[in-house]
Amino acid sequence: MCPPEHFAVDYAINAWMDTSVPVDAALALKQWEGLREVLVGLGHEVRLLPARPGLPDMVYAANGAFVVDGTVYGARFKHAQRAAEAAEHRAFYEAHGWRYVAPTATNEGEGDFAYLPDAYGGLILAGHGFRTELAAHAEAQEVFGRPVVSLRLVDSRFYHLDTALAVLDDRNITYFPGAFSPASQRVLAQLFPDAVLADEADALAFGLNLVSDGRNVVLNSEASGFAEKLAAAGYVPVPVDLSELKKGGGSVKCCVAELRP
Ligand code: ARG
Repeated sequence: MCPPEHFAVDYAINAWMDTSVPVDAALALKQWEGLREVLVGLGHEVRLLPARPGLPDMVYAANGAFVVDGTVYGARFKHAQRAAEAAEHRAFYEAHGWRYVAPTATNEGEGDFAYLPDAYGGLILAGHGFRTELAAHAEAQEVFGRPVVSLRLVDSRFYHLDTALAVLDDRNITYFPGAFSPASQRVLAQLFPDAVLADEADALAFGLNLVSDGRNVVLNSEASGFAEKLAAAGYVPVPVDLSELKKGGGSVKCCVAELRP
């Protein structure tokens, strides 16, 4: 995680960002700290990436890389405003001894890649349409030696895979079908017949931008209806208030880069 010490909405590169809406930086930091405490309280070890001035979106640490089996596939951001974040993440991984593979294709890390260790022997889901290029899906498959299923995002409000789909446990997901092309919806229905389906309101409340340990599901507190669906499916919703960070177009998952040794 990376503290939102320099968080701001100085530019607009997604449908959620409005530079005319003021951001309460102190509140953003407080809310982010609340998320960190919740994760630590659930038993997670949280490593911190130092925030850099001039990189207001760095708090969305999920976009900096995608890590599976101890290998790190680096990010290459679509927008120039975020490009320098990639090197910060790379420095972190290299300093801590991870195997880092530099990307040639544009991709925004865990924003557009998700991993299910127990589905089909280890499956990667990948989004394209707004940020990550299809070429990066093929590149990731070669880097990891795991099948990568490409899913096309079609609604600009859900510009990253992690705004429309989340891994709930080692083999199951939740998603909002309307964020995907009809063909990609069929692929998801075929692969995940038991998925927890979210609706547009759940997705707009950033409910799908969650972090789950297989039981406890940490999610944006605005997504209360979605939390009920998760509870009915046997999960334990853990709501956190990240209203300030939503102004940048992100929530829980965006703030967390998962390290998979
Ligand atoms: N303002 C950031 C951007 O548009 C938000 C990134 C959100 N991160 C995520 N994993 N969806 O790039």
